[in-house]
Amino acid sequence: MNSSKNLLKVENLSKVFPNGDREKVVFSGINIDLAEGESISIAGQSGCGKTTLLLIMAGLTAPTGGTLSLNGKIYSNPSSDIALVLQDYGLPPWKTVEDNIRLGALLQNIPVSDDEINDLKSHLKIEGLDHLYPHQLSGGQRQRVAIARILLLKPKLLLLDEPFAALDALTRERLQKLLLNIFRQRGLSFIIVTHDVEEASLLGERIMVMDSNGGGISAVIDNPGFLSEGYRDTPEFFERIKQLREVLKASD
Ligand SMILES: Nc1ncnc2c1ncn2[C@@H]1O[C@H](COP(=O)(O)OP(=O)(O)OP(=O)(O)O)[C@@H](O)[C@H]1O
Ligand SMILES: [Mg+2]
Repeated sequence: MNSSKNLLKVENLSKVFPNGDREKVVFSGINIDLAEGESISIAGQSGCGKTTLLLIMAGLTAPTGGTLSLNGKIYSNPSSDIALVLQDYGLPPWKTVEDNIRLGALLQNIPVSDDEINDLKSHLKIEGLDHLYPHQLSGGQRQRVAIARILLLKPKLLLLDEPFAALDALTRERLQKLLLNIFRQRGLSFIIVTHDVEEASLLGERIMVMDSNGGGISAVIDNPGFLSEGYRDTPEFFERIKQLREVLKASD
């Protein structure tokens, strides 16, 4: 997809946190180019800086060094073109499912029709839950409500932080398929952070590995077959998992 328009450019990004009277370099020298309609998975051990990197790309945390640009424009604040799904779903507990779904669009003044919402609910299998509160939902339902809310915002870039980590294997597989379907149909770009090698190999056209010692991206693995039918059962997929596992071990 090299002919597509470049959407996100991350240049020489670094993040340093104060750590007592010393400093902790979480990562440095990160460069990422993402075109419209492309996906990237980012894998790495716990604590290597994956969430920090997403928060920076979402414009919610300032980097220590480097620049971010979207469609060629440098940015440092949140934008309606970039949506982030966090590890803990981020659903206000005092709002019903229906209100939660509408909340993001309401805050950003994005008009949504009832048809659009109903379509999305049926697609995500969250019909009939409108009057329940987040604590009355299962983890999988909560995650799908969070995804519905984000999709109404029609972002150009979706950033996902281990979105399916808390789910059982089958629900997880269903949501991974759903994400790929939406990706195909809408031509949206996404970056998914996961420490799960199968998930990284299933969802990323490129898989980036972050190292645990402040270095940044230690390897980029191409995964061209990721959208092919039944990829999960192909020798190519198993080969990719093996390759990724080896790279991850080396990056520890
Ligand atoms: N606000 C902060 N102040 C100081 N240190 C921080 C802050 N946020 C994160 N860190 C540190 O930065 C490092 C990276 O954290 P981050 O949450 O990005 O890791 P992660 O790769 O997402 O881990 P996990 O896989 O466990 O979610 C950790 O060592 C963490 O302690
Ligand atoms: Mg994290």
